[in-house]
Amino acid sequence: MAAKKQKILCLCNGVSEKDILLILKRGAKNLEDVKKFTGAATGCGRCKSETEAIVEHFKKRKPIDLQTNIDF
Ligand code: FES
Repeated sequence: MAAKKQKILCLCNGVSEKDILLILKRGAKNLEDVKKFTGAATGCGRCKSETEAIVEHFKKRKPIDLQTNIDF
């Protein structure tokens, strides 16, 4: 089975959607954090709106209920 290709969102800096989601899961709070830690949207700016949309979508998701999702 072939590995799934990642969609490169920021062509200037080679940043994928997966890279952005990973940095959000690791605590990035906003577009500025994502820019700082991934380099996305720091070149030509063409990917800025899509990067911002991913950040906003991530912020609106429901928090994980740790009490019911962890198996001990
Ligand atoms: S494509 Fe992301 S800054 Fe140019």
